[in-house]
Amino acid sequence: MKQGESTDSPQIECIGVTKRFGGTVALDEVSVKIERGTVHAIVGENGAGKSTLGKAIAGVHAPDEGSIRLDGVEVDLKSPHIALKHSITMVAQELSLLPGRSVLENVYLGIEAGRGPFLNAAEDLRRYHDLVEQHGLSLDPNAQVGNLSVAEQQKVEILRALARDAQIIIMDEPTARLSSDEAKSLVTTVRHLSKRGVTVVFVSHFLDEVLEVADNITVMRNGQVIRTGPAALESKASLIEGMVGRSLDSAFPPRRGVPESAAPVLELDRLSREGAFEDVSFTIRAGEIVVLAGLVGSGRSEIARAVFGADRPTSGSMKLNGVNHSPRSPKQAIASGIGMIPEARRDQALFMQRTVGDNISLAHLDKYTSTGIVRGGTESAAAAGAAADVSLTGGTITSMMNELSGGNQQKSIFARWLISTPKLLIADEPTRGVDVGAKLGIYELIVRLAEEGLAMLIVSSEIEEVLGIAHRVLVMRQGRLVGELDGANATDTDVMELAFGLEAA
Ligand SMILES: Nc1ncnc2c1ncn2[C@@H]1O[C@H](COP(=O)(O)OP(=O)(O)OP(=O)(O)O)[C@@H](O)[C@H]1O
Ligand SMILES: [Mg+2]
Repeated sequence: MKQGESTDSPQIECIGVTKRFGGTVALDEVSVKIERGTVHAIVGENGAGKSTLGKAIAGVHAPDEGSIRLDGVEVDLKSPHIALKHSITMVAQELSLLPGRSVLENVYLGIEAGRGPFLNAAEDLRRYHDLVEQHGLSLDPNAQVGNLSVAEQQKVEILRALARDAQIIIMDEPTARLSSDEAKSLVTTVRHLSKRGVTVVFVSHFLDEVLEVADNITVMRNGQVIRTGPAALESKASLIEGMVGRSLDSAFPPRRGVPESAAPVLELDRLSREGAFEDVSFTIRAGEIVVLAGLVGSGRSEIARAVFGADRPTSGSMKLNGVNHSPRSPKQAIASGIGMIPEARRDQALFMQRTVGDNISLAHLDKYTSTGIVRGGTESAAAAGAAADVSLTGGTITSMMNELSGGNQQKSIFARWLISTPKLLIADEPTRGVDVGAKLGIYELIVRLAEEGLAMLIVSSEIEEVLGIAHRVLVMRQGRLVGELDGANATDTDVMELAFGLEAA
């Protein structure tokens, strides 16, 4: 214990912290104590204020009212830089890396070994290897960040926080983009850190993970703290009840069969893309919900990208509604009736500096223009209807996209495809970062769209949940389709055995 530290003050204490954004009260007199060396989880629905609380502690947002104490001493965390001086750093929900630079440069940006022109890259590389070995998060230090997958970029963010040797690390949905193996390894890292005395504030929608990793849990709702208590006294059900204010009936919407007569919408015939997937054939009929399962890197997202015209297959063919489909661009794919909800919403799908309404209308503005001029009225009525349909909260269609919480940003991409009525909707991890209540809403939406005749291709790692709505599950391993399961009868274990190649010979 250092001199001046008192044993009875918590390491971090927020006292009556209020933060407003215009008319929105993101934090409403939040008081919370976080003890040294603990893993302190924060849970709550989309827009509850979790990220805002993390950012207040990390010096990103200055509170309008209230105070923050570190070891009993009031501090003014005016900037992330000042927070870092107090050994606080944050792994943000949205990625904030320099895409043109290497992994190594991103990890040590601003804390490079050496000074000015005498930067010591060799020393950084040595430190990097130590860091990676210590935490089991391996990545090529020389790879350019812009070329990495989203999961790998998330690892860079985490390594960057670890490299700063912080005593307090705020992790905002750190596992949302990781595979289940990587998520497990991160949970181990977090436990190690706390054993070494590091305090981790852990924001996550994965309640199982939270219950496993956390010492204490704070439940938030509508900008307020509902309670803070030991994780050992909570269960998934008690957390959900605290988050939504009622117990949630998590029953899935009833699954209806696909009529025998339903026409094929998408047909893949021995489709291959070198280095990504090989010899993939399947058909999705109108009204059918097909899930592509498999480990991260098994080729699922790559297939989705080929169907959407983002990548070109190297051999094989596709048909859409019976006619040859070989889109040269996503634009062509959209024109021929395909909608896409990509995995990395912020980078690939949203315009953060435009309004929610614009974002919802963007893919199909031509529907509302007769002369090339946007007829504001019709467009916004449709957008408002779609926003209500996906239960968008924390903003209206005139809010800027960057004012919405992460989960609500995801819902607004869904809203986009509600008004353009595509024939095939591809969704890559559609419920990532979405809270439990809204998740169910999204699944209901998928089922409803399918009942209206839309064909759905879903890439998802949340197998247990997605089995509740899937008609068929196609499992991929190392770029190949290795099995097909009936959604109504398959179990989580069936899918994982195929994905890992453990199925009985
Ligand atoms: N920069 C901003 N400008 C305006 N409003 C904001 C801003 N950041 C957050 N908000 C609003 O503050 C509220 C809390 O948002 P916050 O991002 O903290 O939620 P969250 O609990 O992290 O949600 P999620 O689970 O979706 O990430 C929301 O209503 C959000 O719309
Ligand atoms: Mg958030």
